[in-house]
Amino acid sequence: MAVEYITSRNMVDLIYETLRLMNKSMAHHSMRVSYIMSKILEIQGTYEKYEIADFMVLALLHDIGAFKTDDVRKQLTFEAKNPMPHAVYGYLFLKYLSPLEEQSKIILYHHTDYNKTKDMDYRYRFELEALKVAEIMDVWQRSFGAKFDHKLINNYAGTKFDPKVCKLLDTAVEEFDIFTKLRDKTFKDEYGESLEYVLLSDDEKEKYLKMLMYCTGLKEEQTVSETVATIYVCRELGRKLKLSELDKNEVYYAAMLHDIGMLAIPVELLNAPRKLGEEEKNLIKTHVEIMEKTLENKLSKEIIKVAAAHHERFDGNGYPRGLKASVMGQKEAILQISEQVVNSMEPKPYREARTKEQIVDDLNNGIISGKYEGIVADTFLKYYDEIMDKAKQRADMALVTHQKLQRNYNQVYSSLV
Ligand SMILES: [Fe+2]
Ligand SMILES: [Fe+2]
Ligand SMILES: [Fe+2]
Repeated sequence: MAVEYITSRNMVDLIYETLRLMNKSMAHHSMRVSYIMSKILEIQGTYEKYEIADFMVLALLHDIGAFKTDDVRKQLTFEAKNPMPHAVYGYLFLKYLSPLEEQSKIILYHHTDYNKTKDMDYRYRFELEALKVAEIMDVWQRSFGAKFDHKLINNYAGTKFDPKVCKLLDTAVEEFDIFTKLRDKTFKDEYGESLEYVLLSDDEKEKYLKMLMYCTGLKEEQTVSETVATIYVCRELGRKLKLSELDKNEVYYAAMLHDIGMLAIPVELLNAPRKLGEEEKNLIKTHVEIMEKTLENKLSKEIIKVAAAHHERFDGNGYPRGLKASVMGQKEAILQISEQVVNSMEPKPYREARTKEQIVDDLNNGIISGKYEGIVADTFLKYYDEIMDKAKQRADMALVTHQKLQRNYNQVYSSLV
């Protein structure tokens, strides 16, 4: 599906912002590692800018697995003492759910010593060695502060780290004044500039946006399965309503990213096996505005508008803005109704799944009260079984890779430790 709504530079910003929703200090660490790695590759001298950009994105994602396998607040513990779980999960995440499948093994070995990887027959072995050095430089400079001397890394040249990369780091640190820039944070300006050269195909862009949607599963599996179901219910409903290609696309991306703000909501609240208090409910409701802020200026306004209205209702009783029917259209209605139906079908810690009969009643009542837009809700009711059957088939297929990731994790992990 064409993705002219997002530029390459914005995609990288969006990945960073998404990481930030999950944990700020991890996101900063990832960006610094990505920056250091880019400088090592630059000094090496044989890379085109767009090639460096690819590895910058990879480095930005190098610790993504930790959001699933570890307490990200204890970064030094899992990076230094027990790095394998997050390395394995991150590798599988990138292999199955990102456009960086070929480079994903770099993540698997990013904590494995040079003397174990040096004879590996792997196309990206050099970049792997560069990531290791970039990563350790950031971990150490953070732990030792001003006392840190990057030459320390040379003590491990030939054992933990590739001597060639250690030398490149020495040169890069001097040439680009990396330490000062990391400390006063000016590296961020440079980081952005070089990313202007990231070239992404439409296919890559779609895969990256999907990857961000899958990030919500790092926190709460159910968010992914519900989002995928919502995407396909929207698609089938949109087809029945004869939406234009452009409108279909906009609903598709709005459905894909509508709950990405959930990444900033404490998981204890999402799984609380009880009715939530007012304050807690209000906190969950902020996920809509968080999503809007995250996507702002990166995706098209129309996609954000549709996504931001997924909890609004046509009678004005929705949130966060209490929008009225006059400012919403068919696309908003499609996402609202699809999302609500998918949500009702799932059992929640505080209520059972609603049956088809109950859902049909809810829709009919919603039409009468003005909660749902009439034409869209009527169309849904008219083709209910067909829409739901087709959407289920498609969603099940789409979730196969995601499930493969969960299954393969244990297998790969036990084969390595
Ligand atoms: Fe790291
Ligand atoms: Fe790591
Ligand atoms: Fe939501």
